[in-house]
Amino acid sequence: MTKPAILVARSIFPEVLQKLRRHFEVESNDGDQPLSREQLISKLQGKAGAFTTGGERIDAGLLKACPQLRICANMAVGFNNFDLPAMTAAKVLGTNTPDVLTETTADFGFALLMATARRMTESEHFLRAGQWKKWAYDMFAGAEVHGSTLGILGMGRIGQGIARRGAHGFGMKVIYHNRSRLAPQLEKECGATYVGKEQLLREADHLVLVLPYSKESHHAIGAAELAQMKPTATLVNIARGGIVDDAALAKALREKRIAAAGLDVFEGEPQVHPDLLTVPNVVLTPHIASATIKTRLAMANLAADNLVAFLTQGRPLTPLNPE
Ligand code: DGY
Repeated sequence: MTKPAILVARSIFPEVLQKLRRHFEVESNDGDQPLSREQLISKLQGKAGAFTTGGERIDAGLLKACPQLRICANMAVGFNNFDLPAMTAAKVLGTNTPDVLTETTADFGFALLMATARRMTESEHFLRAGQWKKWAYDMFAGAEVHGSTLGILGMGRIGQGIARRGAHGFGMKVIYHNRSRLAPQLEKECGATYVGKEQLLREADHLVLVLPYSKESHHAIGAAELAQMKPTATLVNIARGGIVDDAALAKALREKRIAAAGLDVFEGEPQVHPDLLTVPNVVLTPHIASATIKTRLAMANLAADNLVAFLTQGRPLTPLNPE
């Protein structure tokens, strides 16, 4: 029997590629560059499946040009690169990688919060530049973490993981805002209290963004929202670029309208707004919140297993748009 053909759009773990080769005719992009849209469309000709990594836009135009495509398996929990209604209309399944990255990503969100509040990268740059000559009572004095108020915007699995760390590990008061309120038992487990968005902005000492990107969440944090935050507050974005208006944030940071920010995601990444690169009170990381070897391997395996389960048995593991 001939094996179905698939495309692996980015270089992935060799053992995962090997597993895929047992089930499929695999064409893989083993270079270190993403495929251009034209290359993606060309390589998808005749392919039943695509292993995608979040950077490949799957929309109506691409689907029309690739009529044999039946599934796109994203190695990411976020799927804003998928036009899901267009995929559903074209009868193409999308899958993502929930759960396997939750705790790792929550760890990173907390690490970024700590680094931002305690000015870790700013002070490291100072030290490396040979500027540390004396003790000073206010040298890199940052914001308190333990006992402060942690605000969380978006309360899915990762938000809940951050809430637990804050409430139970750091004695923080945790407030959150989400499209829907958690069940009372879950709120209790997370040590979190539901508030309106305005109250969240006003009261948070540290505000962490963990909501999915959509048209509705585009620039959920812009100049008006930043103006409502405390001047001593920090903002952490581990969700998606585009949720924050990066130009407005850079301005607010420069004018010290909020104290600091920690950003793992950017509008138009891997490009970063030039103004963010020149303000000192921001910690910048290149979209690595889920990046531990163990978690990235689990994500890759889950994406691969979705392709295998769907294309060989018609039963995907984590479908986004089941029939
Ligand atoms: C995700 O899974 O959506 C992350 O942003 C990619 O690491």
